[in-house]
Amino acid sequence: MKKSFLAALMALAFTAGAQNLGNNLGIVPAPVSVKSAKGHITINSETSIIADSMTHPAVKFLNDFLKKNGFSNVIVNASTMGKKPTDVKNAIVLQTKTSLNLPSEGYELKISESQVLISGHGAGLFYGLMTFLQMVNLEKKGVATVQCATINDAPRFGYRGLHLDVSRHFFPPDFIKKYLDLMAIYKLNYFHWHLTDDQGWRLEIKKYPNFTKNGATRAQTKVGNFSGNNTDLFDNTEYSGFYTQEEVKDIVAYAAERYINVVPEIEMPGHSMAGVTAYPVMSCDPNKKYKVGETWGVYTDVYCPSDTTFHILGDVMDEVMDMFPCKYVHIGGDECPKDAWKQSAFCQQLIKDSLLRDEAGLQSYFIRRMERHLNKTGHKIIGWDEILEGGLAPNATVMSWRGEEGGIAAAQLNHDVIMTPGSGGLYLDHAQSKSEEEPLSIGGFAPLSKTYSYNPVPATLTADQQKHIIGVQGNVWTEYMATPEKVEYMVAPRILALSEVAWTPQSGKDYNDFSANRVPHQLRILETKGYNYRVPEPMGIADTTLRGESFTFDIQPSVEGAAVHYTIDGFTPRETDMAVKNKLKVTVPKGKQIELKTIVTTPGGKRSNVVKTVLDNK
Ligand code: ACM
Repeated sequence: MKKSFLAALMALAFTAGAQNLGNNLGIVPAPVSVKSAKGHITINSETSIIADSMTHPAVKFLNDFLKKNGFSNVIVNASTMGKKPTDVKNAIVLQTKTSLNLPSEGYELKISESQVLISGHGAGLFYGLMTFLQMVNLEKKGVATVQCATINDAPRFGYRGLHLDVSRHFFPPDFIKKYLDLMAIYKLNYFHWHLTDDQGWRLEIKKYPNFTKNGATRAQTKVGNFSGNNTDLFDNTEYSGFYTQEEVKDIVAYAAERYINVVPEIEMPGHSMAGVTAYPVMSCDPNKKYKVGETWGVYTDVYCPSDTTFHILGDVMDEVMDMFPCKYVHIGGDECPKDAWKQSAFCQQLIKDSLLRDEAGLQSYFIRRMERHLNKTGHKIIGWDEILEGGLAPNATVMSWRGEEGGIAAAQLNHDVIMTPGSGGLYLDHAQSKSEEEPLSIGGFAPLSKTYSYNPVPATLTADQQKHIIGVQGNVWTEYMATPEKVEYMVAPRILALSEVAWTPQSGKDYNDFSANRVPHQLRILETKGYNYRVPEPMGIADTTLRGESFTFDIQPSVEGAAVHYTIDGFTPRETDMAVKNKLKVTVPKGKQIELKTIVTTPGGKRSNVVKTVLDNK
């Protein structure tokens, strides 16, 4: 009875419609210029695929894509053909030898009904291919169509980073590769690998085996939020993991094939409980018993700035530089309490002898000494913005995380800066919504729109100083991410916003086009690739109270091919509830209130949080 009464309140209108990809044809990050044209090209077994540089990583990547998707086409070397590749009809041509004057990492992609031509040098060709693959519409195995267009593109910033903390939780090499795959799709080119911290040392060091023998295992792990309830509840379960040098080299090579540089981070002088547990001689009190951190936050036992410590860390860095070809090495530098140094007679004497002002000066002394070691081989250090305190090391690049102030100060001192402020939505461990259905996180609030709206170049800097903002990065601290699936949930879709902040000119950004047209398209792609992205709430409806009698909602799913289901009976909607086909009309009887609850359900079986809209006609 109740049901039919409620059903009578509602009328649904159907209109079918294909996903609107918008002016940017669904591509993320939005290219500098997109000119779409009528028509499409069909790729099938008849299509010639031609490259002028068979060893280019884009060729291997395209070959893997073809195999995976049922194409048997063999990529042909342009020099073995009797005619110019650009004269071949029904062809995909990858060309590095081009007379085009392309910017660094830039490319041109021309798709006509008879040919796909991707032109670029080095990374540019790879990015042209990445864009092209986002446009490929697979009809069935071995057959695809692609809309005609001309795209000219190049990145806004040279450093487009994504970080991953593998100390708080360890993620196996296969997942690191999946993470790199995700970065490659969105043209991110620096993977910041946070390899050591209080809760675990995760990198094999051959000369000092105790780093992984004693430093890679913690006896147990804190349960729940660090600052919330249950502060003394632990899981009573040993946790460990580390990467062998062979695994690291394999990952670095995998990254390089995707034009991704891997920046290793070895934290110092703070966040070093795992390090001092492995080698207490590196601490200010070698007789003390140390253990690998079992809870989160900041620990007061840190490395002592002694010759022994620098000797060991120098050796560690030598092995690190052998494993990682990247010009940057991240030495941490953040959140180093000075308690141990204040109590240490050695540190106090060192402050006097080296004419340092205080313990902040000692931190600066520490970083400068490490920088000298790394600069000797042409490497550059990156440090969190605390490395400004006590004086910046001469050639350091600053990662500004506590807001933008550190980055601004560093740029004013003519140092390079990577912006990664939590306040700018770049801490991807922050909550993505305020819904109670959101999983455990460190807190904060960084919805997709916030990450998207970030502009890394502060207006307070002069034009010359602004040139020192070399890029931007999203940080993924994993205290509350114990599984790869949770990492994926926290990273996607915000990685799409990050990529646009990092790549697209500020004037080309458009949140409406991004969220309504391109995110849904990309999430469908990510679903087919097996990423556990967060499903955004349905579009066209909000958690709010609306007053009135008669309502019409144009509710759209946030993922291409997904559905929106709803209830008005107070229960949580699921796939078995009524689906919104397009316009949803709800009429509320006089004196009554209806709770309209909507969710998105995706073809792969994922669900969004519930949106509750109170319709009040009292
Ligand atoms: C940081 O989030 N402690 C760099």
